[in-house]
Amino acid sequence: MNVADAAIAAFRRAFGVDPTSLALAPGRVELLGNHTDYNGGLVLAAAIDRHTAVAARPAPGGRVRAYASGFDARDDFELSEPRSGNPGSWATYVRGVTWAVQQDYGPCIDGLDIAICGDIPQGAGLSSSASLQAAVGLVLGVGVDGDEARMRLARVLRRSENEFVGVASGLLDQFSVLMGRDGFALSLDCRSLEYERVSLSDPAPAIVVCDTKTSRLLADGMYNRRRAESDRVVDHFRRHTTGVKIESLRDLTLEKLMDDWHTLDDPDRRRARHVLTENERVRRGVIALKEGKVAEFGRLMSASHASSRDDFDNSSPALDAMVESAEGSPGFLGGKLSGAGWAGCTVNLVEAAHAVEFAAAVAERYERRTGVAPSIHVCRAAEGAHLRALDSRGDHA
Ligand code: GLA
Repeated sequence: MNVADAAIAAFRRAFGVDPTSLALAPGRVELLGNHTDYNGGLVLAAAIDRHTAVAARPAPGGRVRAYASGFDARDDFELSEPRSGNPGSWATYVRGVTWAVQQDYGPCIDGLDIAICGDIPQGAGLSSSASLQAAVGLVLGVGVDGDEARMRLARVLRRSENEFVGVASGLLDQFSVLMGRDGFALSLDCRSLEYERVSLSDPAPAIVVCDTKTSRLLADGMYNRRRAESDRVVDHFRRHTTGVKIESLRDLTLEKLMDDWHTLDDPDRRRARHVLTENERVRRGVIALKEGKVAEFGRLMSASHASSRDDFDNSSPALDAMVESAEGSPGFLGGKLSGAGWAGCTVNLVEAAHAVEFAAAVAERYERRTGVAPSIHVCRAAEGAHLRALDSRGDHA
């Protein structure tokens, strides 16, 4: 059963009636631009055809009642007070988006019942949480007609993540799950918020996600620590630079960083080197894609992984084993960790004609090395979050 049908069935089980709306939001992969977003940098991502589906129906009483089918768990809170209670992690995201949407758009509904289903691996670097938040935003009634409306919701969801969930993340995830386009990568300048959809070329290479079966929570502190390390470098240059305003790592050049290398502490300076070289890889990656040079793009992805591993220290033995298992497998163009890092998935660009062979080879090699059977997902770049029409019986077309 697909996730849309599963969410409808879960809604009927949980609430005994038919849902009246259904939202689908994709996961995302970060193709290039690792930990650049909160540093005012450049990112290149794609929404993927793995989704969170949320079926919903308005209900009186000023409450949100939520059922998460994957956990067989419920939450129930007052719309006016999403911070009350003792929510678990999926529920924190539902409460957070309810809070942020009301803060930004004003009161939206009288009450809502929702059921959630999804096929995005969780805690794996594929933005299952941003996807959940986007789908909930849509069933709360936030309109997403046109890019401007989508960008506004992306910023609201980021506010939920930063101020409610407590993770100081950038805009990459929320932007990607809302702005996705079938067959396109998404580039975003996180300082100016200019964006562009860039064709993945024809025939588009497959996006193969390899799940190491290790996972972690973003809220575990490592992510915020990296952010603090970047901020210390910005502080250094702010104190030692005259005439130019330094607000983020984006305002530095690699030359400037190298000039001050010996006066900066380790690991902070390596964190900054990763971010600055990564911005450059995104710049070159966009050009490569526009010129249809997917092999060159793949090499940039592999260089990104090496920089994450050596300078940003956000890889892990499992992620490295997966990247090394992919190298030399049939059709491999390039691969790297995806998202925050430390655990979860790698993302690989693979010649579409060899995707199935690649998946089998990488799974076999990874299992031989680690003793763990991975999950491999052959994906394509997909549309951003959207509502699906339901008929009078609550089924989707
Ligand atoms: C997580 C965050 C994003 C981004 C990536 C790393 O996915 O939510 O904002 O910082 O890590 O690039």
